Amino acid sequence: MAGERVYIFDTTLRDGEQAPGFSMNMEEKMAVANQLARLGVDVVEAGFPIASPGDFQAVRKVAQEVKGPVVAGLCRANRPDIERAAEALEPAERRRIHTFIATSEIHMKYKLQMEPEDVLQAAVDAVKLANRYTDDVEFSAEDATRSDIDFLCRIVEAVIQAGATVVNIPDTVGYSIPHEFGERIATLVNRVPNVDKAIISVHCHNDLGLAVANSLAAVKAGARQVECTINGIGERAGNASMEEIVMAIRTRSDLFGLITNVHAQEIYRTSQLVSRVTGVYVQPNKAVVGKNAFAHEAGIHQHGVLSNPLTYEIMTPESVGVPSSTLVLGKHSGRHALRDRIRALGFDLDDDVLSRIFEKFKKLADKKKEVFDEDLIIITEEELMAVPRSFELDYIQTTSGNKVLPTATVCLKRGEEAFQDSAIGDGPVEASYNAIDRITGFPGKLLSYQIRAVTHGREALGEVTVKVKFNGITVLGRGASTDIVEASVKAYINAVNKYMYKREKEENNQGNGS
Ligand code: KIV
Ligand code: ZN
Repeated sequence: MAGERVYIFDTTLRDGEQAPGFSMNMEEKMAVANQLARLGVDVVEAGFPIASPGDFQAVRKVAQEVKGPVVAGLCRANRPDIERAAEALEPAERRRIHTFIATSEIHMKYKLQMEPEDVLQAAVDAVKLANRYTDDVEFSAEDATRSDIDFLCRIVEAVIQAGATVVNIPDTVGYSIPHEFGERIATLVNRVPNVDKAIISVHCHNDLGLAVANSLAAVKAGARQVECTINGIGERAGNASMEEIVMAIRTRSDLFGLITNVHAQEIYRTSQLVSRVTGVYVQPNKAVVGKNAFAHEAGIHQHGVLSNPLTYEIMTPESVGVPSSTLVLGKHSGRHALRDRIRALGFDLDDDVLSRIFEKFKKLADKKKEVFDEDLIIITEEELMAVPRSFELDYIQTTSGNKVLPTATVCLKRGEEAFQDSAIGDGPVEASYNAIDRITGFPGKLLSYQIRAVTHGREALGEVTVKVKFNGITVLGRGASTDIVEASVKAYINAVNKYMYKREKEENNQGNGS
């Protein structure tokens, strides 16, 4: 397929992750970053290094380990931010410093308290300073859609002159309407004399539900980089959704005549991974990746699709990697078969990890008989993203019913030591959580609890995701089992372990003075 390229700049780990309720720990960020590389995005924005030591470390680790995409770090248009970003990005094969300053009247006056000429100078200085560390420098004019167009043209020209190779025009507050945004991009493309020396990028928020439509209008008008996130996660109503942008450009190549480098078959898996690590499920009717995105319910539609899929299907589920849920392995399958299947699913594992997964697989196959790809993905990711386990579940026993007081006895292991306690609750799950709190000595406040069946049928693996606050620190826990009480308990223990890991890391950081 020929055609000019649209670069895909993924900001799931920065704009996505910074939204409340979407935070990820280091292991989860790495899993997402590696999957983004597999997906074939051009740029991974890994974080905002000056924002916190955790952000700095995440950007540095992505820069060290993720191969393929350019790794970008965000910074405001000032020296300390830029130097910190440069330091975090230093190990990357290819690095980009992404510096920004607001250009709208309202932001300059009330937020920055700066005169427009000073903003312009700060932008130019920032780009020049960033250029000392890398020749790949992106400048963003924050709140560009509410900025005076003449001023915007001037600042875009000035930063390109200063060395910016990408100039980003964000619709920071999701205010624009597609035809208007397209015209703004066209104006920049036509009026800025040195515009051909840089790539024009767009970054749209979804406050009016128009982020994808605005981004596509901009592409039509000449933008050649789109900033977006998996599942559209991000501040407030989110960012433009990557899967929708990529599939729109691909499905309507007749209209756009453009290509991206994204391997569309990896889209579904990436979407599921982001959903799992953030604990935020994808809405069923979400375009491209929702559970119902390819489900034809109405009889008339089903009849049409059976006669010819093109009657109602503009893209196939296979094209975005939706699995067909075929039976893959059973309890007689051996280690080699498991390794081959896991490899086919895109995981490259060392022998130790494979052995642990094999053990889990055997237990699951004993209970469930038919093990599907989705089950394997869950147990593999559970293992890959595991934090050091302070506590492990040894056993649980619960009693419940509509005429008895729900009671749970839980035994946890910490190394060789076993701890057992019992408690009552409103149901077996709450009783188990109370028993665990008695063992650990720090009560958790359950902020959210979600359960879903990973595959279909009565024997399906149930996956539980909990959000729990311990001593002011919120963590996400996940657990899977064919028994939903056990899955619930595993999720809670996972949250306990994450909390202890986080607390220990914070204590170490304080000890090191960082
Ligand atoms: O929304 C926005 O303006 C941003 C910039 C920092 C690019 O996220
Ligand atoms: Zn943004």
